[in-house]
Amino acid sequence: AGGYKVAILGAAGGIGQPLSLLIKMSPLVSALHLYDIVDVEGVTADLGHCNTPAKVVGFTGQEDLAGCLAGADVVVIPAGVPRKPGMTRDDLFSINAGIVKELVEAVADHAPGSLIHIISNPVNSTVPIAAELLKQKGVYDPRKLFGVTTLDVVRANTFVAEKKNLPLADVDVPVVGGHAGATILPLLSKARPKTSFTDEEVEELTARIQNAGTEVVEAKAGGGSATLSMAYAAARFIEASLRGLDGDGDVYECSYVPSQAAVPELPFFASRVKLGRDGVEEVVAAELRGLTHFEARALEALKPQLKASIDKGVAYAQ
Ligand code: APR
Repeated sequence: AGGYKVAILGAAGGIGQPLSLLIKMSPLVSALHLYDIVDVEGVTADLGHCNTPAKVVGFTGQEDLAGCLAGADVVVIPAGVPRKPGMTRDDLFSINAGIVKELVEAVADHAPGSLIHIISNPVNSTVPIAAELLKQKGVYDPRKLFGVTTLDVVRANTFVAEKKNLPLADVDVPVVGGHAGATILPLLSKARPKTSFTDEEVEELTARIQNAGTEVVEAKAGGGSATLSMAYAAARFIEASLRGLDGDGDVYECSYVPSQAAVPELPFFASRVKLGRDGVEEVVAAELRGLTHFEARALEALKPQLKASIDKGVAYAQ
Protein backbone atom coordinates (compact mmCIF):
# COMPACT_ATOMS: atom_id res chain seq x y z
CA ALA A 1 0.00 0.00 0.00
CA GLY A 2 1.09 3.56 -0.60
CA GLY A 3 4.29 4.45 -2.40
CA TYR A 4 2.76 7.04 -4.70
CA LYS A 5 4.54 9.79 -6.58
CA VAL A 6 2.91 13.23 -6.47
CA ALA A 7 4.03 16.15 -8.66
CA ILE A 8 3.07 19.72 -7.74
CA LEU A 9 3.32 22.28 -10.56
CA GLY A 10 3.58 25.79 -9.16
CA ALA A 11 5.11 24.50 -5.90
CA ALA A 12 6.87 27.75 -4.98
CA GLY A 13 3.62 29.74 -4.76
CA GLY A 14 1.31 30.79 -1.99
CA ILE A 15 -0.73 27.60 -2.34
CA GLY A 16 2.12 25.44 -3.61
CA GLN A 17 4.34 25.75 -0.53
CA PRO A 18 1.86 24.87 2.23
CA LEU A 19 0.35 22.22 -0.04
CA SER A 20 3.79 20.67 -0.51
CA LEU A 21 4.23 20.57 3.27
CA LEU A 22 0.88 18.85 3.79
CA ILE A 23 1.59 16.27 1.08
CA LYS A 24 5.06 15.68 2.55
CA MET A 25 3.17 14.56 5.68
CA SER A 26 1.13 11.91 3.83
CA PRO A 27 2.04 8.33 4.69
CA LEU A 28 0.88 7.25 1.21
CA VAL A 29 3.46 9.33 -0.69
CA SER A 30 6.99 8.06 -1.39
CA ALA A 31 8.10 10.78 -3.83
CA LEU A 32 7.15 14.45 -3.92
CA HIS A 33 8.24 16.31 -7.03
CA LEU A 34 8.14 20.10 -6.86
CA TYR A 35 8.12 22.18 -10.04
CA ASP A 36 7.99 25.92 -10.66
CA ILE A 37 9.30 28.47 -13.12
CA VAL A 38 10.93 30.24 -10.18
CA ASP A 39 13.59 28.46 -8.16
CA VAL A 40 12.20 25.67 -5.95
CA GLU A 41 15.54 24.58 -4.48
CA GLY A 42 14.92 26.43 -1.20
CA VAL A 43 11.51 24.88 -0.66
CA THR A 44 12.92 21.48 -1.61
CA ALA A 45 15.84 21.68 0.82
CA ASP A 46 13.61 22.99 3.59
CA LEU A 47 10.91 20.30 3.23
CA GLY A 48 13.52 17.59 2.71
CA HIS A 49 14.51 17.90 6.36
CA CYS A 50 11.11 16.71 7.59
CA ASN A 51 11.42 13.10 8.73
CA THR A 52 8.46 11.71 6.78
CA PRO A 53 8.85 9.09 4.03
CA ALA A 54 8.30 11.18 0.87
CA LYS A 55 11.54 11.95 -0.94
CA VAL A 56 11.40 15.58 -2.09
CA VAL A 57 12.98 16.51 -5.42
CA GLY A 58 12.92 19.99 -6.95
CA PHE A 59 12.64 20.87 -10.64
CA THR A 60 13.06 24.46 -11.79
CA GLY A 61 12.31 25.81 -15.27
CA GLN A 62 10.59 24.38 -18.32
CA GLU A 63 13.48 22.13 -19.31
CA ASP A 64 12.96 20.25 -16.02
CA LEU A 65 9.21 19.73 -16.40
CA ALA A 66 9.47 16.34 -18.14
CA GLY A 67 11.69 14.99 -15.36
CA CYS A 68 9.31 16.23 -12.72
CA LEU A 69 6.35 14.47 -14.33
CA ALA A 70 7.93 11.11 -15.21
CA GLY A 71 6.13 8.35 -13.35
CA ALA A 72 3.78 10.64 -11.42
CA ASP A 73 0.59 9.01 -10.11
CA VAL A 74 -1.01 12.33 -9.20
CA VAL A 75 -0.28 15.75 -10.72
CA VAL A 76 -1.54 18.85 -8.91
CA ILE A 77 -1.66 22.22 -10.68
CA PRO A 78 -1.80 25.35 -8.48
CA ALA A 79 0.33 27.38 -10.95
CA GLY A 80 -1.03 30.73 -12.03
CA VAL A 81 -1.75 34.23 -10.89
CA PRO A 82 -4.13 34.82 -7.96
CA ARG A 83 -6.94 37.37 -7.66
CA LYS A 84 -6.51 40.90 -6.41
CA PRO A 85 -9.33 42.89 -4.76
CA GLY A 86 -12.02 43.73 -7.30
CA MET A 87 -11.18 40.81 -9.59
CA THR A 88 -13.43 37.83 -10.22
CA ARG A 89 -11.99 34.37 -10.89
CA ASP A 90 -12.93 34.87 -14.50
CA ASP A 91 -10.62 37.87 -14.77
CA LEU A 92 -7.71 35.43 -14.37
CA PHE A 93 -8.63 33.59 -17.54
CA SER A 94 -6.31 35.33 -19.99
CA ILE A 95 -3.14 34.50 -18.04
CA ASN A 96 -4.01 31.24 -16.33
CA ALA A 97 -5.49 29.57 -19.41
CA GLY A 98 -2.07 29.75 -21.07
CA ILE A 99 -0.29 28.41 -18.00
CA VAL A 100 -2.71 25.50 -17.65
CA LYS A 101 -2.39 24.74 -21.37
CA GLU A 102 1.39 24.54 -21.20
CA LEU A 103 1.34 22.34 -18.10
CA VAL A 104 -1.46 19.98 -19.16
CA GLU A 105 0.21 19.38 -22.53
CA ALA A 106 3.35 18.37 -20.65
CA VAL A 107 1.31 16.08 -18.39
CA ALA A 108 -0.20 14.45 -21.50
CA ASP A 109 3.29 13.83 -22.88
CA HIS A 110 5.10 12.74 -19.72
CA ALA A 111 2.53 11.48 -17.22
CA PRO A 112 -0.40 10.13 -19.26
CA GLY A 113 -2.62 8.07 -16.99
CA SER A 114 -1.96 10.19 -13.92
CA LEU A 115 -4.78 11.77 -11.93
CA ILE A 116 -4.78 15.51 -12.70
CA HIS A 117 -5.99 17.93 -10.03
CA ILE A 118 -6.49 21.48 -11.22
CA ILE A 119 -6.50 24.36 -8.74
CA SER A 120 -5.64 27.23 -11.12
CA ASN A 121 -8.63 29.52 -11.54
CA PRO A 122 -11.07 29.98 -13.16
CA VAL A 123 -11.55 26.26 -12.46
CA ASN A 124 -14.92 26.36 -14.28
CA SER A 125 -12.93 26.99 -17.49
CA THR A 126 -9.45 25.58 -16.82
CA VAL A 127 -10.78 22.03 -16.35
CA PRO A 128 -12.60 22.08 -19.74
CA ILE A 129 -9.37 23.44 -21.29
CA ALA A 130 -7.48 20.50 -19.84
CA ALA A 131 -10.07 17.99 -21.07
CA GLU A 132 -9.93 19.36 -24.60
CA LEU A 133 -6.12 19.30 -24.72
CA LEU A 134 -5.94 15.76 -23.33
CA LYS A 135 -8.43 14.71 -26.04
CA GLN A 136 -6.25 16.32 -28.71
CA LYS A 137 -3.26 14.40 -27.33
CA GLY A 138 -5.24 11.12 -27.37
CA VAL A 139 -4.77 10.47 -23.65
CA TYR A 140 -8.07 11.70 -22.22
CA ASP A 141 -9.64 9.68 -19.44
CA PRO A 142 -12.54 11.65 -17.91
CA ARG A 143 -12.28 9.57 -14.73
CA LYS A 144 -8.88 11.11 -14.05
CA LEU A 145 -9.46 14.84 -14.41
CA PHE A 146 -10.58 16.94 -11.44
CA GLY A 147 -11.20 20.55 -10.57
CA VAL A 148 -10.40 20.93 -6.89
CA THR A 149 -13.50 22.40 -5.22
CA THR A 150 -12.89 20.93 -1.78
CA LEU A 151 -12.43 24.40 -0.31
CA ASP A 152 -16.11 25.10 -0.97
CA VAL A 153 -17.01 22.00 1.07
CA VAL A 154 -14.53 22.88 3.81
CA ARG A 155 -15.96 26.39 4.05
CA ALA A 156 -19.55 25.13 4.04
CA ASN A 157 -18.74 22.67 6.83
CA THR A 158 -17.04 25.35 8.93
CA PHE A 159 -19.73 27.99 8.47
CA VAL A 160 -22.61 25.57 9.12
CA ALA A 161 -20.94 24.16 12.24
CA GLU A 162 -20.39 27.70 13.57
CA LYS A 163 -23.90 28.89 12.77
CA LYS A 164 -25.68 25.86 14.21
CA ASN A 165 -23.28 25.08 17.06
CA LEU A 166 -22.53 21.61 15.75
CA PRO A 167 -19.32 19.66 16.37
CA LEU A 168 -17.04 20.59 13.46
CA ALA A 169 -15.91 17.06 12.78
CA ASP A 170 -19.47 15.82 12.24
CA VAL A 171 -20.62 18.34 9.64
CA ASP A 172 -20.59 17.40 5.98
CA VAL A 173 -22.29 19.62 3.40
CA PRO A 174 -22.22 18.59 -0.26
CA VAL A 175 -21.39 21.48 -2.58
CA VAL A 176 -22.21 21.08 -6.26
CA GLY A 177 -22.13 23.16 -9.44
CA GLY A 178 -18.99 25.12 -10.18
CA HIS A 179 -16.26 27.02 -8.37
CA ALA A 180 -17.09 30.72 -8.76
CA GLY A 181 -19.70 32.96 -7.14
CA ALA A 182 -23.26 31.91 -7.86
CA THR A 183 -22.13 28.70 -9.60
CA ILE A 184 -21.17 27.37 -6.15
CA LEU A 185 -24.25 25.59 -4.79
CA PRO A 186 -24.14 24.26 -1.24
CA LEU A 187 -26.92 21.72 -0.69
CA LEU A 188 -27.82 22.60 2.87
CA SER A 189 -30.87 20.34 2.75
CA LYS A 190 -28.49 17.39 2.32
CA ALA A 191 -26.16 18.42 5.14
CA ARG A 192 -25.11 15.77 7.57
CA PRO A 193 -26.05 15.59 10.36
CA LYS A 194 -29.60 16.39 9.25
CA THR A 195 -30.10 20.01 10.25
CA SER A 196 -32.98 22.40 9.78
CA PHE A 197 -32.33 25.94 8.64
CA THR A 198 -34.65 28.92 8.46
CA ASP A 199 -35.03 30.54 5.02
CA GLU A 200 -32.90 33.41 6.28
CA GLU A 201 -30.15 31.07 7.40
CA VAL A 202 -30.16 29.32 4.04
CA GLU A 203 -29.81 32.60 2.19
CA GLU A 204 -27.13 33.92 4.49
CA LEU A 205 -25.05 30.73 4.58
CA THR A 206 -25.33 30.20 0.82
CA ALA A 207 -24.19 33.76 0.11
CA ARG A 208 -21.29 33.47 2.54
CA ILE A 209 -20.09 30.17 1.06
CA GLN A 210 -20.36 31.58 -2.47
CA ASN A 211 -18.41 34.73 -1.57
CA ALA A 212 -15.94 33.27 0.93
CA GLY A 213 -13.05 33.50 -1.54
CA THR A 214 -13.68 37.23 -1.88
CA GLU A 215 -13.75 37.55 1.93
CA VAL A 216 -10.14 36.34 1.91
CA VAL A 217 -9.11 38.46 -1.10
CA GLU A 218 -10.42 41.58 0.63
CA ALA A 219 -8.75 40.70 3.94
CA LYS A 220 -5.34 40.21 2.32
CA ALA A 221 -4.16 43.78 2.12
CA GLY A 222 -1.12 42.86 0.05
CA GLY A 223 -3.21 41.16 -2.65
CA GLY A 224 -3.76 37.46 -3.26
CA SER A 225 -6.47 34.90 -2.65
CA ALA A 226 -6.83 31.96 -0.27
CA THR A 227 -3.60 30.00 0.06
CA LEU A 228 -3.55 28.27 3.45
CA SER A 229 -7.17 27.08 3.51
CA MET A 230 -6.87 26.22 -0.18
CA ALA A 231 -3.78 24.12 0.51
CA TYR A 232 -5.56 22.42 3.41
CA ALA A 233 -8.56 21.61 1.23
CA ALA A 234 -6.43 20.42 -1.71
CA ALA A 235 -4.41 18.17 0.60
CA ARG A 236 -7.64 16.63 1.86
CA PHE A 237 -8.70 15.94 -1.72
CA ILE A 238 -5.31 14.57 -2.79
CA GLU A 239 -5.26 12.27 0.23
CA ALA A 240 -8.73 11.03 -0.77
CA SER A 241 -7.53 10.35 -4.32
CA LEU A 242 -4.55 8.44 -3.00
CA ARG A 243 -6.76 6.35 -0.75
CA GLY A 244 -8.91 5.65 -3.80
CA LEU A 245 -5.86 4.59 -5.83
CA ASP A 246 -4.89 2.40 -2.91
CA GLY A 247 -8.17 0.48 -3.13
CA ASP A 248 -9.63 1.89 0.07
CA GLY A 249 -13.22 1.07 -1.01
CA ASP A 250 -15.26 3.88 0.51
CA VAL A 251 -13.82 7.26 -0.52
CA TYR A 252 -16.18 10.09 -1.43
CA GLU A 253 -15.44 13.77 -2.04
CA CYS A 254 -17.04 16.58 -4.05
CA SER A 255 -15.13 17.62 -7.17
CA TYR A 256 -15.72 19.43 -10.47
CA VAL A 257 -15.55 16.60 -12.99
CA PRO A 258 -16.32 15.91 -16.64
CA SER A 259 -19.65 14.14 -16.31
CA GLN A 260 -23.18 14.76 -17.46
CA ALA A 261 -24.61 12.34 -14.90
CA ALA A 262 -25.79 15.14 -12.62
CA VAL A 263 -26.96 17.74 -15.16
CA PRO A 264 -27.25 16.48 -18.74
CA GLU A 265 -26.80 19.91 -20.34
CA LEU A 266 -23.58 20.68 -18.41
CA PRO A 267 -20.58 18.55 -19.46
CA PHE A 268 -18.63 19.60 -16.34
CA PHE A 269 -20.22 19.80 -12.92
CA ALA A 270 -19.12 19.45 -9.31
CA SER A 271 -20.74 16.48 -7.61
CA ARG A 272 -19.89 14.07 -4.87
CA VAL A 273 -17.81 11.35 -6.53
CA LYS A 274 -16.57 7.95 -5.45
CA LEU A 275 -12.80 7.65 -5.88
CA GLY A 276 -11.19 4.34 -6.79
CA ARG A 277 -8.17 2.74 -8.45
CA ASP A 278 -8.79 4.52 -11.77
CA GLY A 279 -10.08 7.81 -10.42
CA VAL A 280 -13.81 8.50 -10.48
CA GLU A 281 -15.78 5.27 -10.06
CA GLU A 282 -19.17 6.86 -9.63
CA VAL A 283 -20.75 10.29 -9.81
CA VAL A 284 -23.39 10.51 -7.11
CA ALA A 285 -26.18 12.19 -9.04
CA ALA A 286 -28.80 11.25 -6.45
CA GLU A 287 -27.89 14.29 -4.41
CA LEU A 288 -29.60 16.50 -6.99
CA ARG A 289 -32.94 14.78 -6.42
CA GLY A 290 -35.39 16.15 -3.90
CA LEU A 291 -33.88 19.63 -3.76
CA THR A 292 -35.62 22.40 -1.87
CA HIS A 293 -37.31 25.13 -3.88
CA PHE A 294 -34.40 27.49 -3.06
CA GLU A 295 -31.78 24.96 -4.24
CA ALA A 296 -33.70 24.04 -7.39
CA ARG A 297 -33.98 27.70 -8.33
CA ALA A 298 -30.29 28.33 -7.63
CA LEU A 299 -29.41 25.31 -9.78
CA GLU A 300 -31.46 26.63 -12.70
CA ALA A 301 -29.94 30.08 -12.25
CA LEU A 302 -26.32 28.88 -12.30
CA LYS A 303 -26.63 26.83 -15.49
CA PRO A 304 -26.14 29.63 -18.05
CA GLN A 305 -23.11 31.08 -16.21
CA LEU A 306 -21.44 27.71 -15.79
CA LYS A 307 -22.21 26.73 -19.40
CA ALA A 308 -20.62 29.96 -20.64
CA SER A 309 -17.45 29.31 -18.60
CA ILE A 310 -17.24 25.76 -19.92
CA ASP A 311 -17.74 26.91 -23.51
CA LYS A 312 -15.09 29.59 -23.08
CA GLY A 313 -12.57 26.98 -21.92
CA VAL A 314 -13.39 24.57 -24.72
CA ALA A 315 -13.21 27.32 -27.35
CA TYR A 316 -9.83 28.46 -26.03
CA ALA A 317 -8.35 24.99 -26.36
CA GLN A 318 -9.73 24.24 -29.84
N1 APR B 1 4.70 26.96 -14.70
C1 APR B 1 4.89 26.66 -13.40
N2 APR B 1 4.64 27.49 -12.40
C2 APR B 1 4.18 28.70 -12.72
C3 APR B 1 3.93 29.10 -14.06
C4 APR B 1 4.21 28.16 -15.08
N3 APR B 1 4.02 28.46 -16.36
N4 APR B 1 3.46 30.36 -14.04
C5 APR B 1 3.41 30.74 -12.75
N5 APR B 1 3.85 29.75 -11.95
C6 APR B 1 4.02 29.73 -10.50
C7 APR B 1 4.57 31.03 -9.94
O1 APR B 1 5.97 31.11 -10.13
C8 APR B 1 4.17 30.92 -8.47
O2 APR B 1 5.18 30.27 -7.72
O3 APR B 1 2.76 29.56 -9.86
C9 APR B 1 2.91 30.03 -8.50
C10 APR B 1 1.64 30.78 -8.16
O4 APR B 1 1.76 31.24 -6.86
P1 APR B 1 1.07 32.57 -6.35
O5 APR B 1 1.35 33.65 -7.32
O6 APR B 1 1.47 32.75 -4.93
O7 APR B 1 -0.51 32.24 -6.47
P2 APR B 1 -1.44 31.36 -5.50
O8 APR B 1 -2.05 32.22 -4.48
O9 APR B 1 -0.68 30.16 -5.08
O10 APR B 1 -2.62 30.95 -6.50
C11 APR B 1 -2.38 30.19 -7.66
O11 APR B 1 -4.50 29.05 -7.57
O12 APR B 1 -6.49 29.40 -6.38
C12 APR B 1 -5.80 29.58 -7.57
O13 APR B 1 -6.78 31.58 -8.31
C13 APR B 1 -5.61 31.03 -7.82
O14 APR B 1 -5.07 30.67 -10.06
C14 APR B 1 -4.51 30.99 -8.82
C15 APR B 1 -3.65 29.83 -8.37
